[in-house]
Amino acid sequence: MSTKNTPKRAADYGLPLYFDMQAKMGHTKHLGGLAATQKLAEFCHLAPGTMLLNVGAGAGISAAYMAANYGCRVVGVDILPGMVASATRWANEQNLSEQIEFRLGDAQNLPFDDNQFDALICESVNVFVPDKAKAMREYLRVLKPGGHIGLTEAIWVNDPSPETEAIIIEATGQQLQASAVWENLLKEAGFVGVVVENHAMTMRAEGRNQSALLTARNYIRILGRFIGIMISDRETRSLMKYMSSNPRQYFHYMGYGLYAGRKPE
Ligand SMILES: C[S@@+](CC[C@H](N)C(=O)[O-])C[C@H]1O[C@@H](n2cnc3c(N)ncnc32)[C@H](O)[C@@H]1O
Repeated sequence: MSTKNTPKRAADYGLPLYFDMQAKMGHTKHLGGLAATQKLAEFCHLAPGTMLLNVGAGAGISAAYMAANYGCRVVGVDILPGMVASATRWANEQNLSEQIEFRLGDAQNLPFDDNQFDALICESVNVFVPDKAKAMREYLRVLKPGGHIGLTEAIWVNDPSPETEAIIIEATGQQLQASAVWENLLKEAGFVGVVVENHAMTMRAEGRNQSALLTARNYIRILGRFIGIMISDRETRSLMKYMSSNPRQYFHYMGYGLYAGRKPE
């Protein structure tokens, strides 16, 4: 069978081009970094024996952190084949392949039967999902009754002008929402006991939280891959230049919300 027309790259799914670079590099991020992951883990009561679904697992760094630090079993799904390959490589490199598995899957149509997971964590993903309400209903469906959900979502913390809003959405590829929109999406899907924590961001705190998810050894490993890609790939170089053109301004408007809830018993 010809694979010529098989969708593989981020653009084929309407996703930002930088995801292809991140998949090659083996590094994805979510807002709030380690601090956000630890908070969601607490909300979701992760512990040895917990069966966790990590939706939009990206390069698998957060999934590996949760498996290693909370002893849970993790199934990660991502819509991009490059991310699944990258996350699988990451789990092998961290000697966690017995505890974690990654598969292709779309948040809007999860490849699982009903009532499978004790917890579901999804970090900086739903901003990229076209039908957010459908994704939330899928999260409810695959959780066991009483199962916990934890989301990290990009929010507006200060209202931008329409022009600034358009620039930020275009540059980041993220459909940011007011915090109440994410909260209502969870409630409308049927989650109960919904709690919300809104966070503003500073460049410095964000840098600290992002690097805290990596050991020095892993940081060097990813940096090495990044340098290799920057040297060899002109498309990536121009993408990086564009993305780093004015990040400070974004932090005035962009923040993140942490959301938790339960599927009713
Ligand atoms: C910003 S990255 C975050 C990755 C990861 N959660 C992390 O914290 O590093 C967003 C991820 O969501 C994935 N994604 C986007 N839309 C998706 C969808 N409809 N279903 C599953 N994954 C999706 C992307 O491929 C990407 O890996």
